[in-house]
Amino acid sequence: MRNLTPASITQAFADYCANAPSARTRDLLVSLAGHLHSFVRENKLTQAEWNAAIDALTRATQFTDDKRNEYILFSDLLGVSSLVDMVNAQTKGTPSSVLGPFFIENTPELPNGGDLWHGQVGEPLVVSGKIVDQKGAPAAGTVLALWQNAGNGLYAQQDPQQNPTNYHGRLNVANDGTFAFTTVRPVSYTVPDDGPAGDMLRALGRDAWRPAHLHMMIQAPGHKPLITEFFPEDDKYLDRDAVFGVRAPLVLPFKKVADRAALPANLSGRDTLPMPVWTARIDLTLPPA
Ligand code: BEZ
Ligand code: FE
Repeated sequence: MRNLTPASITQAFADYCANAPSARTRDLLVSLAGHLHSFVRENKLTQAEWNAAIDALTRATQFTDDKRNEYILFSDLLGVSSLVDMVNAQTKGTPSSVLGPFFIENTPELPNGGDLWHGQVGEPLVVSGKIVDQKGAPAAGTVLALWQNAGNGLYAQQDPQQNPTNYHGRLNVANDGTFAFTTVRPVSYTVPDDGPAGDMLRALGRDAWRPAHLHMMIQAPGHKPLITEFFPEDDKYLDRDAVFGVRAPLVLPFKKVADRAALPANLSGRDTLPMPVWTARIDLTLPPA
C-alpha cells in the first residue's frame, strides 16, 4: 500500500497481518492498532504529545526491576488490570479483584487460628469466616493465602524493617470450611507514585490512595483459584481506589468486640489479646467447580 491516508492506514495494517501464525494474536493486535489509530485521529495527536507518551514508557523501563514493575502499575492505574479481571469474572460466588504486586508464592504456613500480628504496630484484627462451594458445602483441601500491609502502611517487600514474609501466610482451611486468624487492621496507603505512572496521576488530578484491604487467594481442589480482597466499610478511599479494585460485596463491617468469649474458640491469642479488638467476618463462596 503506497497511497496511505489517515483513513486507510488501519485497513492497511490489517492487510499486512494476513499471514499471522495465530489468528487470536492477529485479531488482538489488529484491534489494538485500530483503537490506537482512532485515538490519534480523533484527538489529532501532536508529535509532542506522542513523544511524551513514548518518554513515559521509556522512563517506565528505568523504574522497573525485580521488585517493582511500572508497566503493571500503569495497567492498574488505567483500570485495565481491573477490567481484565471483571470481563473474566465468574457471575456466581464471591467476586474476584486485582492481584496487585505483593503476592508471594509458598509463604510460611499459618496454623488455623494462628497469629500474623505478633504484637506489632497497629490495631489487632481477628478475622474469621467460612469458605463453601456453590452448593454451600465446604471443599476439602481448601488453602487460603493471605497478604496485606503492616500497621505502618507498608508491605513487607517495601520495608527493610519487616521480615520478608511479614503479614503473608498460607492457612489450611478446616474440613468444615472455617478459618480464623489474628492480624493487624490493614491501613489505606498510596501506590508508588514517584515514577511516570505517578506523573500520570498528577496530570489527571487523581490521588494515589488505595483503601485499606486484606488480600486473599483461595485454592480449592477442582475449582479455579479465587483472587480477591476485602475492604473495611469505614475507609474513606472506597469510592476512589487508585486501581479500581473495590466491588460492593467485598466491602465489610469491621466491628470492635470487647467480649473475649465472642472470639473464635481456636484462636491462639484468645486469652491474651488486648480487648476490645477489631473483628471481621469474611464468608466466601468459591467459583463454580
Ligand atoms: C495492592 O493491592 O497493594 C496494589 C495493587 C495495585 C498496585 C499497587 C498496589
Ligand atoms: Fe494490596
